[in-house]
Formats: sequence, C-alpha cells, structure tokens
Amino acid sequence: MQGIVLTASEEFLAAAMEEVQREFPQLGQEVLGPGLFWLQTGAEWEQVQTQLIDSPPIFVRHMHAATAWPVSNEPELIASVVQHLETDLPRVPRGASIAVQARAINSSLAWQPRDLKARCDNVLCQQGYQPAIKDPEWVISVTQARQQVYYGLAEAARNLSDWTGGMIHFRKEAGDVSRAKFKLLEAIVRFNLDLPPGGKALDLGAAPGGWTQELLARGLQVVAVDTGELDPRLQHAKCLQFLQANVKNLRFASSEQFDLITCDMSWDPIFTAKLINGLVANLRSGGQVIMTVKLMGKKPLPTIQRVLTMLDNGLTVCHAQHLWHNRQEITLHLRKHS
Ligand SMILES: C[S@@+](CC[C@H](N)C(=O)[O-])C[C@H]1O[C@@H](n2cnc3c(N)ncnc32)[C@H](O)[C@@H]1O
Repeated sequence: MQGIVLTASEEFLAAAMEEVQREFPQLGQEVLGPGLFWLQTGAEWEQVQTQLIDSPPIFVRHMHAATAWPVSNEPELIASVVQHLETDLPRVPRGASIAVQARAINSSLAWQPRDLKARCDNVLCQQGYQPAIKDPEWVISVTQARQQVYYGLAEAARNLSDWTGGMIHFRKEAGDVSRAKFKLLEAIVRFNLDLPPGGKALDLGAAPGGWTQELLARGLQVVAVDTGELDPRLQHAKCLQFLQANVKNLRFASSEQFDLITCDMSWDPIFTAKLINGLVANLRSGGQVIMTVKLMGKKPLPTIQRVLTMLDNGLTVCHAQHLWHNRQEITLHLRKHS
C-alpha cells in the first residue's frame, strides 16, 4: 500500500485534512492517531507529494511518502524495515548523511524506536553512509500506527521538515528574554528567510522582547512597540528604540521606511491585518513582514482566508504555516511588491 503520512497538530488535524481534501478530493484519507493521517495516493505518490511541497497546506507540518504493511511484533517490524532499506539504499549517493526518524503512535505493539534506529544505523555504517540526527541529507521515516508500519526513504527536503514530525527544537540560551523567539527562529528556518543585516525592523507587540533580541542579534536596527515593558536586559541595547505605546496610535512619517515588520500581538486577526495594511506605505519595496495570526474559534480556515484576502494589498503572501512553535495561531511571511 502506497501513500503519504501527514502530521498536523492534534487541535488542527481536521483543518489539515480539509485542506488536503480540497486539493485532492479523489484521494482517500484515514486518521492514524492524534495529529496524524494517511493519504492513499497509490502509484501517484510522487506527483501528489511534489504538489504538497509546492503549495504546502497551512496546517501540515511534516509528511513522508511511505509504503505500508502489517506487522505484529518488534522483530518482524525491524526485520521488514531493514529488508526494505537494503533494497532502497543503492539509490542514495554513497557517503550521504541519513537520519532514522521512527515513531510509535498509540501503539498496541510493544517496540522501541531506538532499537530500530540502532539496527538501521548499523546497516548505514556497513554500506558507507553516515548516520545523522541533525541536518540530514536523507531520512528514513518509520511510523507505526495500529498494526501497520509506514516506511519511506527520501531526501530530507521532500518531508517539509527534516525533524521527526516537524517537531523542530532550539536550544534555550543564557540571556534569552523569552521563548517566543523560537517562533521567529522556526519561521526563519522553515521559510528559508534572509533578514537584511543593518536593515531597519519594526517589531509590533514586542514585549518582553524575544523577537527584538533575535533581530538585534542578527544585526538589524529595531523600533520595538508595546503597551507593556521590555525585559530590563534590553534597556541599554544598541540599535534599539522602544516606543511604549498602543499600536492603534502609531503614526510614522512617510519618510520612515522599514526593511522588515514583525508582529506577534495577541490581537483580533482582522485588526492585525488592518494594522499591517496601514503600515505598507512604511515598508520598503521588497521589504518583508513576519507576523502571527491568532486563531479564534474552531473553524480556522475561513478566518485565515479572510486575513489573506485583506492582506492582498501591495503584499504577496509567500508562506502561511502552522509551525511547531505556534499554538492557536499561524505564522505568515509576506513581501511587499517591488
Ligand atoms: C505574545 S506577546 C509578544 C511576545 C514577543 N514577540 C516576544 O518575543 O517576546 C504579545 C504582546 O503584544 C502586546 N500587545 C497586545 N496588544 C497591543 C497593542 N494594542 N499595542 C501594543 N502592544 C500590544 C502585549 O502587550 C504583549 O506584550
């Protein structure tokens, strides 16, 4: 059986399935576990996957193409995966770094993903490949749900994220003022963003200052705005101007131009879209916006559609994604038309 295993957050699984259903109404879907579903592609899997890579559904964080078969115990699972792997490896360039990403979902079958990883790593070493954990070039994905195993070997870029299930992790560093910075870091990695060092950024809803701190660290000058206070550790930061104000009252001269606007406010999504639209005149052409859109209610797709339509005003929506570090919100990346 051939198809694609897709991962979303448990909360937004229905929205993810709806998006995929709209794109591929002819393909069957099946829930495999919390935040996980199976798309039955049959032999079409490669075209379907390419289409999903080209326009990723907002609520899908990770996917892996897979062949599925039934298993009933750990030795059988490991032996059958290793057999498939040995058949597949010749299509991977010798010396490539390969990660084993194995997950047991609601498993009624007693097995340890680490045992499978140890066996696969052995095979990789014997055949001249480099077992990897971070930044792999290729990934062996194994998902076990119910009495089935779903196995695939693919270039990491074809999985949307090179972390198991899209669960990217960043290390907290001494001096970090807020974990909120991980949302910005994930957007930068996931959307492959280039922020202009020396450029000027406007950070809306900046307190306590996680995003501001990260932008300063990347060499940007920052104008940070919040009704609340920034963390005292940012008080004397060079290249930072703090405006303690309500964003509703912001007025910039047209000569004030920003290369980047970031916005992470706990605010009504429609107000947020209006706020950004009102600031487009202060964004240089080609300038970027990174913003979160808070999701209220159980049907997020109509809200998102409304926000995207409103923002279609001199701005191109480059990315819209429910990232691993997003809770009830999504992250957008926009660029002003040149
Ligand atoms: C999720 S926090 C931002 C976290 C921040 N990105 C960080 O990295 O530390 C949301 C912020 O939006 C601010 N905020 C909400 N409404 C605002 C408004 N109307 N004007 C200015 N700031 C506002 C809140 O005071 C709060 O500090």
